[in-house]
Amino acid sequence: MTGVKRGARSFAGSADQPAIVVEGLSKRFERRTAFEDVSFEVGRGEVFGFLGPNGAGKTTIVRTLGTLLAPSTGWATVAGVPLLPENGVVIRERISIMPESPGLYLRLTVSENLECFAGLYQLDDVTQRVARALRAVNLLDRAGDLCSALSKGLRQRVALARALLNEPEVLFLDEPTSGLDPVASREVHGLITSLRERGVTIFLTTHRLDEAERLCDRVAILNTTLRLIGRPDELREKLFRQSLEVRTREPLADAARLFEGRAAVEGWRELSPGVYALAVSNHDLAAPDVVRALVAAGVDVLSIAESRHSLEDVYLELIDEDVEARRR
Ligand SMILES: Nc1ncnc2c1ncn2[C@@H]1O[C@H](COP(=O)(O)OP(=O)(O)OP(=O)(O)O)[C@@H](O)[C@H]1O
Ligand SMILES: [Mg+2]
Repeated sequence: MTGVKRGARSFAGSADQPAIVVEGLSKRFERRTAFEDVSFEVGRGEVFGFLGPNGAGKTTIVRTLGTLLAPSTGWATVAGVPLLPENGVVIRERISIMPESPGLYLRLTVSENLECFAGLYQLDDVTQRVARALRAVNLLDRAGDLCSALSKGLRQRVALARALLNEPEVLFLDEPTSGLDPVASREVHGLITSLRERGVTIFLTTHRLDEAERLCDRVAILNTTLRLIGRPDELREKLFRQSLEVRTREPLADAARLFEGRAAVEGWRELSPGVYALAVSNHDLAAPDVVRALVAAGVDVLSIAESRHSLEDVYLELIDEDVEARRR
């Protein structure tokens, strides 16, 4: 990154360290725990996704790592700098946060907004910086437009430009595509990919599992505590055994009798009427045995296929477990 005024001379070795290290971090508000005992690392240049339902603690983690809130317990380093009150300024020079809502001055133009924020952040070389940020998000031609006249997607892009003003090493994006249509979301995805190509570490929170799957090198699933962390394909493997999806013309009258006790079938559930997911230890043994049993019972089988789980399945399975655990 060029032209960034770095105050962190005593943390000069940061390029060799992970972008973020979090160890046993918790944040409690008076009676409510936002997140508890969270530990993970994010590598330099990685796109790291944080998934979780409403109230899971995602924004609070972003605000904590972004030095806007003090953690209750635990420790962390952000952009190579220990997360301590005395390092707040140094960390903020190296990172940026794009919050859930763009927070722009609607009566100012796009470039006036960016100049204003560059001034607040006490950045040098404001004109050049604003131009670089606008170019990065393809907004140079809208620089003179009032922010009130921009669509939601364009405002989101201005917010991203604002987050790029200090040319951060680590960029926190809190639900960057929330409320955007597929075309605007795709544009934001493209911008994230191009930032990653420039070596920026990206910490992204999202509800959108397709987005996490498409963009993220690794994802963490949070629901106050960290439930799972890994590459999207690893998570699918970790959580699911092999499975078969069976579709029948009519819903089965006695699915339990047909599926239970079959060779290599470890469990089953009905996904919707006439659609069944079977957990199996061996496809080659299970599939013929299940087909024989169904045909012998006079069932019309529409299809039987190896099913591939999406990150959404992983997520829903985990969140279901949480709901069940709370009921116990
Ligand atoms: N300033 C605060 N004071 C008290 N409680 C708070 C505060 N900020 C967050 N919380 C609580 O912490 C928990 C986590 O909230 P947070 O905003 O981090 O969730 P989130 O995962 O970002 O949710 P969403 O997906 O809805 O954005 C919630 O129960 C919330 O009410
Ligand atoms: Mg949030």
